[in-house]
Amino acid sequence: MKLSAIAFGILSTSLLLSSSFTHADTEQAVTISHELEQKVIEWRRDLHQHPELSNREFRTAKVIAAHLEELGLEVQTGIAYTGVVGVLRGAKPGPTVALRADMDALPVVEQTDVPFKSTAVSEYRGKEVGVMHACGHDLHMAMLMGAAEKLSAMKADIEGTIVFIFQPAEEGAPGDEEGGAELMLKEGLFTQHQPEAVFGIHVWSAGTVGHIGYREGPLMASSDQFSITVKGTQTHGSRPWGGVDPIVAAGQIISNTQTIVSRQIDITKAPAVVSFGIVEGGVRNNIIPDEVYLEGTIRNFDMDNRAQIFEKLKTTAEMTAKATGAQAHVHIDEGYPVTVNDIALTQKMLPTIKRVAGDDKVHVNALVTGAEDFSFFALEVPGLFVFLGITPEGQDPVTAPSNHSPFFYADEQALKTGTELYVNWAVDYAKLSAL
Ligand code: NI
Repeated sequence: MKLSAIAFGILSTSLLLSSSFTHADTEQAVTISHELEQKVIEWRRDLHQHPELSNREFRTAKVIAAHLEELGLEVQTGIAYTGVVGVLRGAKPGPTVALRADMDALPVVEQTDVPFKSTAVSEYRGKEVGVMHACGHDLHMAMLMGAAEKLSAMKADIEGTIVFIFQPAEEGAPGDEEGGAELMLKEGLFTQHQPEAVFGIHVWSAGTVGHIGYREGPLMASSDQFSITVKGTQTHGSRPWGGVDPIVAAGQIISNTQTIVSRQIDITKAPAVVSFGIVEGGVRNNIIPDEVYLEGTIRNFDMDNRAQIFEKLKTTAEMTAKATGAQAHVHIDEGYPVTVNDIALTQKMLPTIKRVAGDDKVHVNALVTGAEDFSFFALEVPGLFVFLGITPEGQDPVTAPSNHSPFFYADEQALKTGTELYVNWAVDYAKLSAL
């Protein structure tokens, strides 16, 4: 024990010496002042108390735009409905990088007992609902506002351009509306600003406050919705041969589509899931109905597998129905792509993450079957997206109320780490590009 500790000590000393010539690796992380940290906390509490649903982030957008204007940034508003973009042009030449925060809250009635608890109500799918920042996007915005303030103060030393993206509707636009990252891109966000890299952070309950989870390559799943309408011919339950039974056909479709993942795609590339969530059909025990309606979700971590699953779902459902004399119509509603961290960018920026959070607080994250529309940005340019823990020390992150829970609670100490991470990503990316 003792011997190995000495050996380890010698080893780390020699490593330190040999790496002392690499530029950014040996530098200290930029930190924010106690005063700025307090401001970030105040912004977060204000945003938390005034949550707004997807594509309805009107007040939120005003608060952000006012702050960015006060900092003297070039500010664009009304992108993808309520999105706000601030551009900071550093005094020195260098690359353009983008830092992203999402803005929307959820139709959840808050049940925490924080003093700045939300009592907001809004309308969602024709119903009055409570609204809560139950996914922590309030923290993301406050951290990015803080980063904008810190980086603006450093303008004379900033190499290149920093684009601050405040993105609406990450949770999905309501009804038939478009929204989120995809719509911002459609409206020309990256054509106009052309960042070399894009960075994002998501706070989450599964990590202890201040800890960072990162992963090279795929991190979060793609999320796609599908529906299958199975058409038969109605008849009496006592005489099934008099019609075509869509219930039996639907049952076989449910079973056979499970072979897509288990038999038909190469799961050594990445795992995948095909799940049914809605099975609807029939009105009475002795009537075989005309039609059965199925709905479900597909999650996976590989874009090629994703395309194959779409195709095989269609073939398997149609052919299975055909074998029973029924017909199946498959509709796939593409959602968010796989969130993929660019491997080179992740490796390049990992020392920055470790400097900001501390070596012992940075972990490789497991795959997450949830989805993120940051994925659209990361399909366009190299992206890096990490998780920032917010569960207080001493509390088990495994059992802490999860994101989207009415009891979702964030330890505000995470705000300093997140703000500094945004700041240092921007600063270090430019420095490393200049090497
Ligand atoms: Ni979220």
